[in-house]
Amino acid sequence: MVFTMWLRPLILASVFVWAVATPSPQGCDFSHGRWIIDEASLHPLYDASRDCPFIGFDCSRYARPDKDYLKYRWMPSGCDLPRFDGKKFLERSIGKKIMFVGDSISNNMWQSLTCLLHIAVPNSNYTLTSQTQELLVFSVPEYKASIMWLKNGFLVDLVHDKERGRILKLDSISSGDQWKEVDVLIFNTYHWWTHTGQSQGWDYFQVGNELRKEMDHMEAFKIGLSTWAKWVDSNIDPSKTRVLFQGIAASHVDKKGCLRQTQPDEGPMPPYPGADIVKSVISNMAKPAELLDITLLTQLRRDGHPSIYTGRGTSFDDCSHWCLAGVPDAWNEILYAVLFGNY
Ligand SMILES: *[C@@H]1O[C@H](CO)[C@@H](O)[C@H](O)[C@H]1NC(C)=O
Repeated sequence: MVFTMWLRPLILASVFVWAVATPSPQGCDFSHGRWIIDEASLHPLYDASRDCPFIGFDCSRYARPDKDYLKYRWMPSGCDLPRFDGKKFLERSIGKKIMFVGDSISNNMWQSLTCLLHIAVPNSNYTLTSQTQELLVFSVPEYKASIMWLKNGFLVDLVHDKERGRILKLDSISSGDQWKEVDVLIFNTYHWWTHTGQSQGWDYFQVGNELRKEMDHMEAFKIGLSTWAKWVDSNIDPSKTRVLFQGIAASHVDKKGCLRQTQPDEGPMPPYPGADIVKSVISNMAKPAELLDITLLTQLRRDGHPSIYTGRGTSFDDCSHWCLAGVPDAWNEILYAVLFGNY
């Protein structure tokens, strides 16, 4: 099945870097807040098995026994998230292309969005196609809208060299043409950079003409992300395309793990490795991408992962991706607020 492909164990870097949170200039800072039980019972926003059997990450279907994790909504500290209105989302997206570019966490968010839009117009003759191995397209023909996900773990180039193997070129992006002619771009990259050992996707780093077998992975991430930022500044016309960055989603691949976790944590949480890099690179862009800062809200949801309820057997314990319905729905509520809510 197409959606469960390409899940990889994510390994959490162990170095914590302290950073100071800055309030959003627009007035509402969605990045801080807490998870509360939705007394109005609007959450979960859907029942994946019943409403959207075409999506993955449906933990209930794979026998997750507890249900409380479905009942929470994200409440920002200083304001309320508007209710996700899928019809309004589509009305504002007539004739538009929205593209997620990123890893399987980006795919997780895209899947949530396809379900949220589908339940808003359940009689639509939507199509879900896989144009290539890397590009999945959800189309709603009644609105001429396409919501796409393009697989790309690093954003910068990974090339295969016969002699040396896989080379991650930190200062080069040659696949960017696929990101053009799109109305809304939502990028992410992070987790692939944290991999080590067998799950590491490269053999060498390259910067300029210099090949390096090893360097600090967060340093490499910073160079790679800066290359992406430069690409956006030189190739995207901000009057035509909105550029967003899906911030780092915390994983809970650590000693405590995520199995049998049924409640959110209260916090506070330590700064997450790499989150300061994301903020500083984005703030240095000529036209800064809009950051969907989901780091704290994911740090607080050790209970939100599939763990052994992935349909792939109990030896596979996934504390990186997220159950649907679940935490990524809140990311899309924030996306909705940022795109259409006048925040
Ligand atoms: C979907 O297609 C069917 C068959 O062509 C048509 O009858 C129906 O009206 C379409 N649905 C919408 C929402 O346009």
